[in-house]
Amino acid sequence: MGFHTFDVDRASELERPEVRYRWVSAEELVGPLAAADVEVVADLGSGTGFYTDDVAPHAETVYGVDVQPEMHDRYREKGVPENVELVVSDVADLPFADGELDAAFSTMTYHEFASDAALAELARTIRSGGSLVTFDWSADGDGDGGPPTDERFAAADAVAALEAAGFEVVSESTRTETFGVVARAP
Ligand SMILES: C[S@@+](CC[C@H](N)C(=O)[O-])C[C@H]1O[C@@H](n2cnc3c(N)ncnc32)[C@H](O)[C@@H]1O
Repeated sequence: MGFHTFDVDRASELERPEVRYRWVSAEELVGPLAAADVEVVADLGSGTGFYTDDVAPHAETVYGVDVQPEMHDRYREKGVPENVELVVSDVADLPFADGELDAAFSTMTYHEFASDAALAELARTIRSGGSLVTFDWSADGDGDGGPPTDERFAAADAVAALEAAGFEVVSESTRTETFGVVARAP
């Protein structure tokens, strides 16, 4: 089960490129999505749209999904690309048709939404063979730059949960404080 939801009052902390790209670069996030030639993509827990903006030029439509409408308000204040549509929703109950998404991704949010229901919903809404790209803080890190380690998952935890939901994991990496997992939908 996921941990507490990010505090909207700290939203400005998400808009610090010099800090954010130290842990997860735009290049490593966009790479697996662009390689798959995706058209419709969902950003799961899009927040202020920091990484949504990086993915938008590589897709026709990006749905920015966030459970907190106030986060979308922060994104609108910054300016939302024309091909980004903001959706208020819990990842565990997405307003998308079966197989509607070519891909989905999340950055630093898996630990907040992870549940069997959320992964089942992603298996339903991402087309068969479509990509799910997950970057998050790692429980194997020291706790630098993110939530306490007891509020994080390890890459192995995410891999096990994704495989239990029917996903095929195609790559997995743990660095210092973060992990990345790329999986294909069932
Ligand atoms: C730590 S912030 C990261 C935001 C963005 N992904 C980034 O990297 O800048 C986590 C975001 O996920 C959203 N969130 C948390 N749980 C969620 C859920 N179950 N469904 C949808 N959004 C969720 C929060 O409201 C928050 O905006």
